[in-house]
Amino acid sequence: MQRVNYSRSSRNCMRIYALGCPHSVSHGKTLNDRFESVSCKCQQADSVDAVTAENGLGTGTNGTFNSLISQQVDVAQQLNHHNEGLASIGKSVTVGTINDTQSIVTFDSIEDEAWNLLRESVVYYCGNPIGTIAANDPTDSGILNYDQVFIRDFIPSGIAFLLKGEYDIVRNFILYTLQLQSWEKTMDCYSPGQGLMPASFKVRTVPLDGDDSAMEEVLDPDFGEAAIGRVAPVDSGLWWIILLRAHGKCSGDLSVQERVDVQTGIKMILKLCLADGFDMFPTLLVTDGSCMIDRRMGIHGHPLEIQALFYSALLCAREMLAPEDASADLLRALNNRLTEEYSYDAVNKFNIYPDQIPPWLVEWMPNKGGYLIGNLQPAHMDFRFFSLGNMWSIVSSLATMEQSHAILDLIEAKWAELVAEMPFKICYPTLEGEEWRIITGSDPKNTPWSYHNGGSWPTLLWQLTVACIKMNRPWIAENAVKIAERRISRDKWPEYYDSKRARFIGKQAHLFQTWSISGYLVSKLLLANPEAAKILINVEDTELVNAFSCMLSANPRRKRVRKGSTQSFIV
Ligand code: GLC
Repeated sequence: MQRVNYSRSSRNCMRIYALGCPHSVSHGKTLNDRFESVSCKCQQADSVDAVTAENGLGTGTNGTFNSLISQQVDVAQQLNHHNEGLASIGKSVTVGTINDTQSIVTFDSIEDEAWNLLRESVVYYCGNPIGTIAANDPTDSGILNYDQVFIRDFIPSGIAFLLKGEYDIVRNFILYTLQLQSWEKTMDCYSPGQGLMPASFKVRTVPLDGDDSAMEEVLDPDFGEAAIGRVAPVDSGLWWIILLRAHGKCSGDLSVQERVDVQTGIKMILKLCLADGFDMFPTLLVTDGSCMIDRRMGIHGHPLEIQALFYSALLCAREMLAPEDASADLLRALNNRLTEEYSYDAVNKFNIYPDQIPPWLVEWMPNKGGYLIGNLQPAHMDFRFFSLGNMWSIVSSLATMEQSHAILDLIEAKWAELVAEMPFKICYPTLEGEEWRIITGSDPKNTPWSYHNGGSWPTLLWQLTVACIKMNRPWIAENAVKIAERRISRDKWPEYYDSKRARFIGKQAHLFQTWSISGYLVSKLLLANPEAAKILINVEDTELVNAFSCMLSANPRRKRVRKGSTQSFIV
């Protein structure tokens, strides 16, 4: 396997090549002739000789895969396979039609059905399971980029497999996506920044160069160039670090995170995030659409989701980075980011005026409860409630215990709006009228109470569950799961729901959306075994809390410590 950096002008991606060879492993019984003719000899992902440059800079990986390949199981194939494979008993569940043939399959439980669907969504490369396809909807011909493995979408799939004791797919995912991490220095505005993880990748089977009779498989990453937002996915690398730690904690196998190439990968992500830039905050300055909400929704600056993931990833990385000289500076920078607060002696340092408080908030705030606002910038507060950011603030301990309880209090108090008929509203409230026109650019998909603009996303169940378990209030998540169970399987596992009360399947929602399926499974698995949630939780760091409280109790008019002057770091 070779890493090839294509000239950006000829091809907007780098590819991992796996070369066809004579001992193929095939999956599924329904591979067509083209794929059946592909033959290969594979090496396991763990034998990827991923010797990467120690300093991690500027060079490609010189790892070689003598590899190859299995076939990419494409959507139609998977579905054929799916039909052949599903033969359980019990409660009757109707699944989608393929070629107008309706198949009735039965399962003992919704959970069994979900496992079956999750397994059917697995994508293979080199004969190894490597990820899960975003959506496996048989009725959808215009699949867009949903036939890709999205990094963020794979996280609940990976966790479900970890909790089931199936570690290989996660290990493969971690190691193969590491090969896709951008190694290019940003020499021109078309290159992804060094250390960036792709938003998604696809396994493509293409004719082998110079030999039309042979096929080869390539991993083709997308760094956001193909997405609607056309921006780099800042969350991917952060989620990758979080999943890496979860893999180690769950499997007990620390050898993956200790590998030189993996350590280098962590450092490259951190370097990208901790790099000096124009930003004067200890958080990450990002553009609109750089996270789960990957279209224009007015969340540029410091959206809470990125802040919470960043905080969590910093804590996870601190646990995993090997204590060696080369990491010392990075660890120092990392600890500094965790504790540093920029401010001169301003009391109202963001220049926020009470007139900014929107009328809806005055009505909406419950007597008991609170939340972290969606985005804070100088002279601007985005008061919208963003679910993922708030939930992950609890999980990562970015929110204090008191704040975390307040967030759950608010969720309970505002159940009718945030959960209603399907958990969980991605944000509240919606952008309407002029605001929608200006902020989203009249986005036809993000119309009020749809999709990212106040739609309800079943996948958010899993983050809610981890947050509730952490705060010892699992019943909140249990209730949400019960509501989802009323219709999620009958509705064919939609990507999202529309309307204020989440009454309708989203107007452009994909069905059999994998992270709706795996999000449900993670919730069920964790509620059955709450201890396991520890693999995702960052416990409150007493040293950090002390540092924060010192800052808060200190004279608010104290002078800002200038860079270069003596500073103390928690190491
Ligand atoms: C949509 C979502 C994004 C997700 C992708 C694939 O673009 O906004 O978060 O990763 O679909 O499911």
